[in-house]
Amino acid sequence: MLSPFPLFYFAVIDRLLRRIRAFLLSFAGMRAGATVLDICCATGGQLAFFAKHGMHAAGIDINAQMLRIARSRVQPGAVSNTLVCRANAGHLPFRDESFDFVSICLALHEKPPWLQEQLVLEARRVTREDGFLVLMDYSAPMPKTWTAGLAVTIEFLAGRQHFLCFRDYQRKGGLKFILDMGNLHEIKQELVLGNALTLVLAKPMPIGPGRV
Ligand SMILES: C[S@@+](CC[C@H](N)C(=O)[O-])C[C@H]1O[C@@H](n2cnc3c(N)ncnc32)[C@H](O)[C@@H]1O
Repeated sequence: MLSPFPLFYFAVIDRLLRRIRAFLLSFAGMRAGATVLDICCATGGQLAFFAKHGMHAAGIDINAQMLRIARSRVQPGAVSNTLVCRANAGHLPFRDESFDFVSICLALHEKPPWLQEQLVLEARRVTREDGFLVLMDYSAPMPKTWTAGLAVTIEFLAGRQHFLCFRDYQRKGGLKFILDMGNLHEIKQELVLGNALTLVLAKPMPIGPGRV
């Protein structure tokens, strides 16, 4: 039996994000035929947009129940250009430089710092040298709007550990901190959902000596 959280995510959050999912494609300049990996794809909301727009898309997540919903969204209609697999974002099952685009949507704020770092380094590793990373996550600081209030409430209800990670992410400066940590160069950014979310298009910069 499915637990309520994946169903809640599918019914509420995915619906709330529909327009932003579509906007993300044009924001990043994604075209049919591009190879795209969505890390921590959850119920496949973003992945379904990639598939629908003719990209060769892959989505990974660690939660089997989330992936059941993701598969049900991309597999009917024989979308043969989409792969959904269970994997740990800290150890991606792909070769170096496999993808033109790698997206991480709403997944970094809830991870502990050690996993954030592994995730970003893995995202870099599988992105082509001339490819891009697309990050979407909470703005830091959050604006004082009802959408931001709703988001903070959802984060609080998601559990103590989850909320502590969210607060830590906010305190460190959100995606700005993630870009610095991953040695990523920001090309552009846009605020969406009443400024509660920030979208960033970034490129990997060479990692200097002393960094793993
Ligand atoms: C908030 S959801 C991500 C939302 C999704 N990217 C979207 O656009 O709607 C966070 C996801 O991270 C996944 N996750 C947590 N730890 C993970 C790990 N170590 N490896 C892969 N996925 C992980 C969870 O199962 C969950 O589906």
